[in-house]
Amino acid sequence: MGARQIYEALREQILGGVYETGSQLPSSRGLANDLGVSRTTVTVAYEQLTAEGFIEARQGARPRVASSLIGPETRRMSAKRVGPVLLSAYGRRLRATPPWPDYLPNALKVDFRYGDLAPSDFPALIWKRAMNEAMAQRPLRLAYDDPRGSRRLRQALQGYLWRARTLSCDLEQIIIVNGSQQGLDLCARLLVDPADRFVIEDPCYRMARQVFASTGASPVPVPVDEGGMKTELLAGIGAKLAYVTPSHQFPLGGVMPIARRHQLLEWARHNDAYVIEDDYDSEYRYDINPVPPLHSLEDHGAVIYLGTISKTLSPMRRIGYLVVPPELQEVFATAKQFADRHSPVAEQEALASLIESGGYESHVRRVRRLNGERRETLLGALRHSFGDRIAVQGADAGLHAAVWFNDLPRSQETALVEAARRAGLGLHLISPLYERQSDEGHIDRVGLVMGYAALSIRQIEKGVEVLRAVVKQLQDALPGHGG
Ligand SMILES: Cc1ncc(COP(=O)(O)O)c(C=O)c1O
Repeated sequence: MGARQIYEALREQILGGVYETGSQLPSSRGLANDLGVSRTTVTVAYEQLTAEGFIEARQGARPRVASSLIGPETRRMSAKRVGPVLLSAYGRRLRATPPWPDYLPNALKVDFRYGDLAPSDFPALIWKRAMNEAMAQRPLRLAYDDPRGSRRLRQALQGYLWRARTLSCDLEQIIIVNGSQQGLDLCARLLVDPADRFVIEDPCYRMARQVFASTGASPVPVPVDEGGMKTELLAGIGAKLAYVTPSHQFPLGGVMPIARRHQLLEWARHNDAYVIEDDYDSEYRYDINPVPPLHSLEDHGAVIYLGTISKTLSPMRRIGYLVVPPELQEVFATAKQFADRHSPVAEQEALASLIESGGYESHVRRVRRLNGERRETLLGALRHSFGDRIAVQGADAGLHAAVWFNDLPRSQETALVEAARRAGLGLHLISPLYERQSDEGHIDRVGLVMGYAALSIRQIEKGVEVLRAVVKQLQDALPGHGG
């Protein structure tokens, strides 16, 4: 590589925003080493960039991108492929799915987006201590680990699952995954084929629906009410698996009663189907008695249990766990090994030490109390602002509530979200989570999924105040409104 090529590559990168204004470039010695060229070659390229005003050279220090260079021009760094994009059938299916939402932090004053947690709830000190301890273990091992995950964490979870969920399993049945989502992806790839059908709740958790559909299999939506999936409607449906959220149906929040749980398991037995039990937020239960997980109610090996720390510690840690039937242990371990060898070990060891010390469960008790307060505030503020003009579903558990506006027709939903956004408030509709979009009659009102775990008490109160004002504005503008 010559000086000219180095100059051109760096110039492109500076213009493309790889190196921002004021940031440092590599030292000439370091870059020469990396590229296997002489230091003089790099120096010549740097001199040219300096002469053209792209960088500022500094005696004895790494050059910086010139401060006079304002705002990088966004340009494509790589050539666009000429000709058709050559994707597998799987790739083509993914390409056809709707794009993912914007994860960048937004400027909204209050956002009832579901899924985020409050930074102040994170037990930073004990997590840091547990991570330090995990990193300080001697002798230091720099080797691949078991694809099923750290033995220590699986042991800690085995005890935790029994204490928290009365779930008993062997150590070998537990597989640590990078969040529930990887668990769902492994289930989809291992258990369904393109011609298969899978049963899904309607409305449902889209990330599960999409991952099963990405295999080419077809969803069979089964309606949901305040008791979760209406399992009486399963009779006559043949499918390879069913995905359910029985502890707290997402998004409507129903807790599946015991009779339905048995009905679902009976269906699975009859159809030789697997049931994926997504127990994503079962740590949060308010004023209701626990119902045993599906996993504890059967002994036919039909249930695959899925848990996560995304609702208790952080969705950014990416730690979840599968409990699979014994005959699936090996194939799941192989799939996990092919996907990414195994999940990062230090984080797993840190979580294990948190669970062993009792710190995890005391943290869960603390966040349950804090989220209980947020929930009370939200329900109280909604009641105060809307009275019986709204119907709230699913607030007995979890970290969100489904809120229906009885006197706001569904035709107003986009207007509501947009008006709220203009007022600095983030609202999220239930309707896109329904499979039966064409049959619109069944959702005639505006419905919102209102997540509260990331908000302060003050933000929740403020958010509902803004919501009240925005709803009022919309109602006043509705035809036939007297005001
Ligand atoms: C139904 C459901 N399952 C699982 C999860 C958590 O996913 P993960 O563990 O991949 O963060 C969520 C998060 O929003 C969810 O709503």
